[in-house]
Amino acid sequence: MSETDVRAFDREHLDGVIALVDAQGWDTYSEDPERTYRALRSPGSTTLVALDDGVVAGLVQLQSDGEIQAHLSALLVGEAWRGRGLARRLLREALQRAGGMRMDILTSAEAFYRHLGAESKTGFRLRPSDLEGDR
Ligand SMILES: CC(C)(COP(=O)(O)OP(=O)(O)OC[C@H]1O[C@@H](n2cnc3c(N)ncnc32)[C@H](O)[C@@H]1OP(=O)(O)O)[C@@H](O)C(=O)NCCC(=O)NCCS
Repeated sequence: MSETDVRAFDREHLDGVIALVDAQGWDTYSEDPERTYRALRSPGSTTLVALDDGVVAGLVQLQSDGEIQAHLSALLVGEAWRGRGLARRLLREALQRAGGMRMDILTSAEAFYRHLGAESKTGFRLRPSDLEGDR
């Protein structure tokens, strides 16, 4: 494989990111590219892309307080680039750049995180409709 660069996500990577999320069927990221751009560049986010000869091969986004707690928002490596250590590198570089003592993750890729040695804890996903009502 040619040299893979990891760098901060910018406007020039948007089309490649959309192709990546579309191939994975991540509709909430692919259906409105400008919303995705704003989300990936939001304050408090650290978003990195892996580039293979200029092609977006992977993406990571995390939110961090810069000191203690980070949360993973997205991690995706394109099928053609899997199994080469790219996801581990993206996670490591994102946490180093963002700061934080730990990173919490909601995922369906359990086996991957167990393989990395992550500790398992119960997670939840709340939506605005879950918070309606005053009780
Ligand atoms: C999960 C995913 C990010 C892994 O990316 P990757 O670049 O192939 O992972 P890496 O090559 O960095 O793997 C690091 C280690 O985990 C192992 N690993 C990778 N995928 C694994 C899986 N699904 N189950 C168990 N172990 C896995 C690798 O063999 C490697 O082990 P080693 O270091 O002992 O050799 C990628 O398959 C993907 O994008 N999947 C679809 C999207 C997804 O599920 N994202 C996570 C949402 S939170």
